[in-house]
Amino acid sequence: MSKSVACIGMGVIGCGWASHFAGQGIEVHAWDPDPKSEDLFKKTIQQAWPSMEKLGLSENASPNLVFFHKEIEEAVESCSLIQESSPERLELKQNLLSTIDKVSNSESVIASSTSGYLVSDLILNCEIAPERIVVGHPFNPVYLLPLVELVAGPKTSISAMDAAESFYKDSGKVVLRLEKEVDGFIADRLQEAMWREALHMVANGEATVEQLDLSITAGPGLRWALMGPMLTFHLAGGEGGMAHMLDHFGPSLKSPWTRLEAPELTESLRNAVVSGCLEEAAGRSVADLVLERDKGLTAIIQTLKDLDSASSEEEQNGE
Ligand SMILES: NC(=O)c1ccc[n+]([C@@H]2O[C@H](COP(=O)([O-])OP(=O)(O)OC[C@H]3O[C@@H](n4cnc5c(N)ncnc54)[C@H](O)[C@@H]3O)[C@@H](O)[C@H]2O)c1
Repeated sequence: MSKSVACIGMGVIGCGWASHFAGQGIEVHAWDPDPKSEDLFKKTIQQAWPSMEKLGLSENASPNLVFFHKEIEEAVESCSLIQESSPERLELKQNLLSTIDKVSNSESVIASSTSGYLVSDLILNCEIAPERIVVGHPFNPVYLLPLVELVAGPKTSISAMDAAESFYKDSGKVVLRLEKEVDGFIADRLQEAMWREALHMVANGEATVEQLDLSITAGPGLRWALMGPMLTFHLAGGEGGMAHMLDHFGPSLKSPWTRLEAPELTESLRNAVVSGCLEEAAGRSVADLVLERDKGLTAIIQTLKDLDSASSEEEQNGE
């Protein structure tokens, strides 16, 4: 089987995957029931290419490596990885994965981009080879953020996990491999906790959308690009590190800093969050914000790469 990938479902995430793979010189076979998806892909790759170029494309990278097919069978025919990125609706994904399972070569690995469904639920209707189905959860924009959470289900084979891991790694992704199912995986579980608290604060009139965003972009968000929440708190404990941090702030875990139950998503909460975002965007369209975000992300990723190579050089020089 050729080292090519099928992207099934070409919305925000599918177009992001296809752009990433094309930038790595990997042939992509795409399918989406909506004929407008081809235009969305053209727009996505056009806007993504300059940022990908800055961070380094592979020698044979080309936007022309992406081929759209009329039938799903044609798209998945001879690909070693099939990346499903259809809408986050369980029944739709169960039926789609069952179709892919039937019409694809049983040696290909099938990965779902789902943000939170478990493999054991996704494979409910798969009868041919459910052992090759994994979750390969990316982060938006897929063409810039390296992380993929690779999650097995109870029936997933080690060989399918190994094959998916090397496919992603060879394409330049950073793989976080989870051998057992965890609701929300790791990153979305963390993101959801913050998102839930943020919605509570809007619902209770405690903070505006803009204040919530500023609290992260001018504060902890800057640190998180360098160190995760754990090492960040290790430093917050001063000389005593995490041990002091836990002894000092541990008791606060019981204070009402978090609410844990999801707020009711009422019409008024929905409207407050939507209008808060529009106000914060101050006339900038989503496309404007995407450009702004990608420019910033490219600069941050480049800085991290430079820091990494500077410290490897120092190590080599015995400094
Ligand atoms: N948007 C994000 O930030 C993000 C991040 C990580 C993972 N995901 C996951 O990626 C998946 C796709 O999300 P998205 O944001 O790209 O959604 P989207 O709405 O932008 O795109 C979904 C695409 O699927 C197509 N589609 C509809 N029915 C289909 C079918 N039966 N078969 C195949 N394709 C079909 C639609 O035409 C559309 O192009 C979801 O599972 C989502 O949870 C999203």
